Amino acid sequence: MRTDSSPQTIFRKDYLPPSYLVDTVELGFDLDPARTIVANRVTLRHNPLSKSRDIVLHGEELELVQLRMNGKPLQAGQYELNGNTLTIRKAPLAVVLEIETLTAPAKNTTLSGLYVSNGNFFTQCEAEGFRRITYFPDRPDVMAKYTVMLRADKALYPVLLSNGNLVEQGELDDGRHYAKWEDPFKKPSYLFALVAARLVCQEERYTLQSGREVLLQVWVEEGNLDKTDYAMQSLKNSIRWDEERFGLELDLDRFMIVAVGDFNMGAMENKGLNIFNTKFVLANPRVATDVDYAGIEAVVGHEYFHNWTGNRVTCRDWFQLSLKEGLTVFRDQEFSADMIGTDSGRAVTRIDQVRTLRQAQFPEDAGPMAHPVRPDSFVEINNFYTVTIYEKGAEVVRMYQTLVGRDGFRKGMDLYFARHDGQAVECDDFRAAMADANGRDLSQFERWYSQAGTPVVRAETRYDAAAKTFDITLRQHCAASADQQQLPFHIPVAVGLLGADGRDLPLKTDAQDRQGHATVVLELRREEQTFRFHDIAERPTPSILRDFSAPVVLEYDYSDAELLHLFSHDSDPVNRWEAGQRLAMARLLKLTAAVAAGAPLTLDDTFIAAQRALLVDDSLDPAFRELALILPSETIIAERMAVVEPQAIHTARQFMRRTLAAALKPELLAQYHANQTPGAYSPDALSAGKRALKNLALAYLLIAPREAELALARRQFAEAGNMTDRAAALVALIHSGSDAGAHLHSFYQDFEQEALVVDKWFAMQAAAPGTDVAAVRQLMEHPAFTLKNPNRARSLIFNFTNGNPSQFHAADGSAYEFWAEHVIKLDALNPQVAARLARSMDRWRRYTPALQAHMQRALERVAAHARLSNDVLEVVSKALA
Ligand code: PHE
Ligand code: ZN
Repeated sequence: MRTDSSPQTIFRKDYLPPSYLVDTVELGFDLDPARTIVANRVTLRHNPLSKSRDIVLHGEELELVQLRMNGKPLQAGQYELNGNTLTIRKAPLAVVLEIETLTAPAKNTTLSGLYVSNGNFFTQCEAEGFRRITYFPDRPDVMAKYTVMLRADKALYPVLLSNGNLVEQGELDDGRHYAKWEDPFKKPSYLFALVAARLVCQEERYTLQSGREVLLQVWVEEGNLDKTDYAMQSLKNSIRWDEERFGLELDLDRFMIVAVGDFNMGAMENKGLNIFNTKFVLANPRVATDVDYAGIEAVVGHEYFHNWTGNRVTCRDWFQLSLKEGLTVFRDQEFSADMIGTDSGRAVTRIDQVRTLRQAQFPEDAGPMAHPVRPDSFVEINNFYTVTIYEKGAEVVRMYQTLVGRDGFRKGMDLYFARHDGQAVECDDFRAAMADANGRDLSQFERWYSQAGTPVVRAETRYDAAAKTFDITLRQHCAASADQQQLPFHIPVAVGLLGADGRDLPLKTDAQDRQGHATVVLELRREEQTFRFHDIAERPTPSILRDFSAPVVLEYDYSDAELLHLFSHDSDPVNRWEAGQRLAMARLLKLTAAVAAGAPLTLDDTFIAAQRALLVDDSLDPAFRELALILPSETIIAERMAVVEPQAIHTARQFMRRTLAAALKPELLAQYHANQTPGAYSPDALSAGKRALKNLALAYLLIAPREAELALARRQFAEAGNMTDRAAALVALIHSGSDAGAHLHSFYQDFEQEALVVDKWFAMQAAAPGTDVAAVRQLMEHPAFTLKNPNRARSLIFNFTNGNPSQFHAADGSAYEFWAEHVIKLDALNPQVAARLARSMDRWRRYTPALQAHMQRALERVAAHARLSNDVLEVVSKALA
């Protein structure tokens, strides 16, 4: 909770080096849910880079019991305790502080700092949770060596874990026991972690490529030991991959993953002791879907890769967050793609990334919370764990690789570690390493870090038949934000040219090194540039921004004929998919306008024929076909409209789905049967792709089902050998509106002991087009519902506000009232989760005047609430500003 009256904005330009550095931290914990005693002995030394001799420690919600400096107790007048900082003025050059504090973990519902989940102790310190455990200079540029002594009741908490190596353990009086851990590496406080719990583990000795043996453990609650195999396998794959692709080895003798059911985010990369949301650890075919399996692989990889990109080299300050997050997302994306191994499999992962950007990042970049990849200011750092920092940040890193090549990128990484291992650095240091290792001038590239907004690249082309030249003119612009005039970006634009036969033409540009390739990367640096291709014998169809080579909006006046040509022939799968999206989007926008105008709705045969051809093209991966057949989401359509009418969008999109389903029925049925995956379940990409296509077909078949299609779905629901098929059948039945109640009931009965499946049960109902706000309120009365568990709250509330636009934007504004009520309720428990929910209203100014008025009232209701956290306050005030 906010203690002072108005929240403060923190600026990047105000950065000052810490006045004191910390060499060692010795922490002692006497763990008790109601009253945990933390003894902290910290050795500090003045930082020669700082003029200040004041020691500044952060602390939040702590009861200070004792404070000693160099052996002597400090009395009230010898330090200042002001809000959340403790200051010791004019301190000696070398200082040992002994600090004893009290905290109440069982009462900590924020899930930041030390907290209790299902009777066990966990910590979460990023970004500023360590200050809720003890007084400390809680900033990432203060790196120290930690020794940790844990004491707790042995029967209740048989497992005591912290970072690094276990150096000692034993018994104490009164049924208590202890464990002492030592982390050999310096780290910032946000990477500290402890676990004291009743847990069991799957463990394995694993031999690194160097021959060194390490111990790997996955810790879970007792009943979940049958769900740890995939996380363990993913961990081993991650270790191997980082050795092979980047020459980076695990630097500890022991690496632990611990699963916890109450967690604000996906997972946390604490040194040697990763703490995970159960959602990204637990899986077996009965309870987890293909998407869950893919998520586990990605997040296990992500946290493991942080060990180098984040932990060994960390951030100077939180404005540099994307230095570790953008880079580590890029690394986990590459890992997942390499694990599939095929080119078409890589493309499928790439298409997924593009969809996420359009669904979430582009809207963020155009809304009230827009910020550069390296922000200049924030009120609450927790609000900046965003798709911009993570996913756009990953796109920025990917562009280096596009510009300097895979080998060049590796050289840049090598130089980055050679220069900065053990340091807390800035985004600029990474850029410098990439530039210097490759002898490139990447100064203009800096604008990707400093300028917010999604650039629009407009292309025009000119074919000269006589000269056999083809010119592409690219013009970029990016809407200026309130406080920033945008300068041109350095944009890699990958281009290919298709001949009439659909094949790539060999390309000849003015640059000498790129002759004869099918794809060239044009580097757009100025506002407008023209690139010429030579010896082009026929008018080609341009395939621009292949592999989505930059996070931009590409505008080009494609004819339908050109798009159809690309949709059936482009050798670049991402642009092949993109052509289909363009075809669909143009029609969806027209249909939406027709709905709004009350005009008749029609869909042309050309489009239907193209979809049919793709659906039955067995030369293409099922996974690719499934993606190519998914229509742009209602959110993505909304982003393309000047004034958003959610109901009209929904009706238009449903019309298109219904029309396609009716027209393609025999083919859908054939694909349904052709893509069965009999035998033992495997989450591999090919099988998962088949299931995805099959279940897409099922969803279409159930749009206007007759008895035969219903029987198909019922049978799949009853006989499914895995959660992917079972959940897909249930969702199809719910959306069809027929007899879903009984199936929902039996599903719940079967899985009520599996928290993650109960989450799915809430989520699929929340997102169903038939679920209005009254139905959501009723679901909240279900005994399994609680606001205190973030996964559960998200499963019902977020899937409704973000995943069910036509109901959330009900004309009477009733769902906005629901939103306001729950932002306020959640804020009292967990500000981080509440602030995420608050973001559902980001785009409110784009809706019809009537909806806007309702939304504004809801926002104002939240803003006017007396006791708001900084987290929520920042989001709603920016929305209303
Ligand atoms: N650093 C974590 C990750 O990206 C995310 C996280 C942030 C988790 C803050 C908890 C709190 O993997
Ligand atoms: Zn991360």
